[in-house]
Amino acid sequence: MKTVKIENLIEGLRQFADENFTCDKVYKFLAENPVDVDSIVPFFFWSKNFYTRNLIYKDERFELMTLCWESGQVSRIHNHADQRCWMSVPVGKLRGQNFRAVEIDESKGFCKLEETDNFNLSDCLTAKVELEEPIHQILNLPEFNQRAVSLHIYSKPFDSCLSYCRDTDTFKEVPLFYTSIRGKLCSSVKL
Ligand SMILES: [Fe+2]
Repeated sequence: MKTVKIENLIEGLRQFADENFTCDKVYKFLAENPVDVDSIVPFFFWSKNFYTRNLIYKDERFELMTLCWESGQVSRIHNHADQRCWMSVPVGKLRGQNFRAVEIDESKGFCKLEETDNFNLSDCLTAKVELEEPIHQILNLPEFNQRAVSLHIYSKPFDSCLSYCRDTDTFKEVPLFYTSIRGKLCSSVKL
């Protein structure tokens, strides 16, 4: 498989005219240009306590990062309201689980969820978050028994998301943090 260095992938995305920066066109570009894993190794950071978020590139239109998942680590159930996002999995394997809200009362922060479909990603397979069903969770299932790295593009960049708790049927906005920025561990982070 012909792979593309991360700097070339970034350059390719920067070249997109604004009107072409659509869900389908970015998806196609990512799917056709699997990343060269060696070129993203500088953006791998690992913690036993949490999956890590590592910023590679950011401009006004999009940000690009790796997420590094130890075996068994999972994201919160979350929703990037009004954001587009794409992901591929160059290392290991991840499960994506989608949810839908069956009952919601925003004034009370109440939301009851139900699982819908799920999918596995590996070998640079690409996914986009469907706008009709944006509530999802990413899991590196213990049975996959290996580390995983995913590559994410978010447009526009954002620093918070809605996080859902199934035990209490509640949701709230939570801030998002980077573990590292352009290959350098952030000073506030303990791995
Ligand atoms: Fe997400």
